[in-house]
Amino acid sequence: IAIPPFKNEPFIDFTQPQSAKAMEEAIAKAKADLGREYPLHIGPEKRFTDDKIVSVNPGDLDMVVGYVSKADRELAEEAMQAALAAFESWKKVPAAERAQYLLRAAKLMRERKLEFSAVMVLEAGKNYAEADVETAEAIDFLEFYAREMIRLDSINETMPLVQLAGETNRLRYIPLGVGIIIPPWNFPNAICVGMTAAAIVAGNTVLLKPASTTPVMAHKFVELMEEVGLPAGVLNFVPGSGAEIGDYLTSHPKTRFISFTGSKDVGLHISELAAKTAEGQIWIKRLVAEMGGKDGIVVDETADLDAAAQAIVTSAFGFQGQKCSAGSRAIIVESVYDAAVEKIIRLTNKLQIGLPERNFPIGPVIDKSSYEKIMGYIEIGKTEGKLLTGGGKAGGNGYYIQPTVFADVDAKARIMKEEIFGPVLAICKAKDYREAIAVYNDTEYGLTGSFFSQDDERIAEALETMHCGNLYINRKCTGAMVGAHPFGGFNMSGTDSKAGGYDYLLLFTQAKATSVRK
Ligand code: NAD
Ligand code: ALA
Repeated sequence: IAIPPFKNEPFIDFTQPQSAKAMEEAIAKAKADLGREYPLHIGPEKRFTDDKIVSVNPGDLDMVVGYVSKADRELAEEAMQAALAAFESWKKVPAAERAQYLLRAAKLMRERKLEFSAVMVLEAGKNYAEADVETAEAIDFLEFYAREMIRLDSINETMPLVQLAGETNRLRYIPLGVGIIIPPWNFPNAICVGMTAAAIVAGNTVLLKPASTTPVMAHKFVELMEEVGLPAGVLNFVPGSGAEIGDYLTSHPKTRFISFTGSKDVGLHISELAAKTAEGQIWIKRLVAEMGGKDGIVVDETADLDAAAQAIVTSAFGFQGQKCSAGSRAIIVESVYDAAVEKIIRLTNKLQIGLPERNFPIGPVIDKSSYEKIMGYIEIGKTEGKLLTGGGKAGGNGYYIQPTVFADVDAKARIMKEEIFGPVLAICKAKDYREAIAVYNDTEYGLTGSFFSQDDERIAEALETMHCGNLYINRKCTGAMVGAHPFGGFNMSGTDSKAGGYDYLLLFTQAKATSVRK
């Protein structure tokens, strides 16, 4: 059957009362599962352990979302053996057939969109729109990578090799082996689905170790793949401690690749472990690591200041600033600085804080350690800049922090350099747009950035000189769309991979060239 061309999943408009009501109903339904126990998935078996991860609603700390079984090294080893065994048959399944599992999963997730989004509202503290765009992105990844695998599989037809006299020369993208998938909590549906789906559609088998704050969402995806009939052992589910099973699996001699998305520190640690050759290991492990960001928006004096201020506030405070793409820095030229700052503060002060299930624009941050880290940076900010709004905790039975803006921050200040991963914006004044771009580039990261200007020559210059993986002109620096904005950063933001792009699946394959003479 011909597969129609890829198109992005539309977003739901929750300003429509019937959509908001449908979401409220989905959340009420999701609550029926609160406190459920979730197993590990090892091959065909579901295993419950005594030791559990307790997943708690960050916006309502009395609400336990679920109790998720926790793997130790022995169970992780069993999952590795299950994945190794399943690889022997999964690698032989034709690419088009593998793609069908993703397409079926996309169809089911589309039919049950609100059900998936509701889990994120409860487990991750997302408001309705943030949860919905994420479910849409998860569907996009499934649809996109299914088509990409089919395209790669037909590479000999679309990009034929030179056929020397007497030879038949062909190229085939074959899978790597068993991979460890380590997603972050901040996109517990989209990134978890995207990383896992790419690896398995390419013919690999995997161990999925979800983030410990959002394992219920990850389990929901595992259940979905089971529902579409994915053969046992292709996707094994092993929640557990990063230090215990994470280190064990990344050091394992049979691990062929690691697909990680998370912080710089953990990414570098995994990179170091993966680079050591274990006894019996016969390959160099491949590491795909998508890491942190210190993203920013540059505004020059020709810019539409209302649009720039709105983009700065959305990028800084969407999902409480807990996006790798969050615009946690704004660098504004001095002639429009005061006017722009005034608009930013006005918009920030309109943001109401409260329970995600009641759809407040600003919800909680994910957990106690994030809360403490962010509050620590706010104290640092008070010594590094002028606090214009926020600067403290907000009310509620959760980890609520006020959207916080510091102005007149020095380009070298810690809050301009370090990833805070919370609702904290640092604003810095620059003499002119060139100085502003230089400040933007003065970072070890290089994930997203935006430039606001109405001057075509400056825009052309910014396109050349702003050094990041995802650069936007006259729009926010969050919200990359699959297929439109292949996503991934430079330098300490990662290994230059591009999720949702045309070369992503190559990272999970190896090319076998064959030349046959008869
Ligand atoms: P994190 O690094 O703390 O954890 C990421 C994952 O690594 C989790 O599943 C965690 O359990 C696991 N982990 C921790 N220690 C481990 C170990 N020793 N071995 C193996 N796994 C281990 O990051 P986080 O707090 O979950 O996510 C936030 C970070 O992710 C931010 O820095 C953000 O910028 C980054 N991020 C990057 C992207 C991107 O595309 N570049 C996307 C989303 C998030
Ligand atoms: N892909 C996500 C964004 O662009 C992280 O905001």
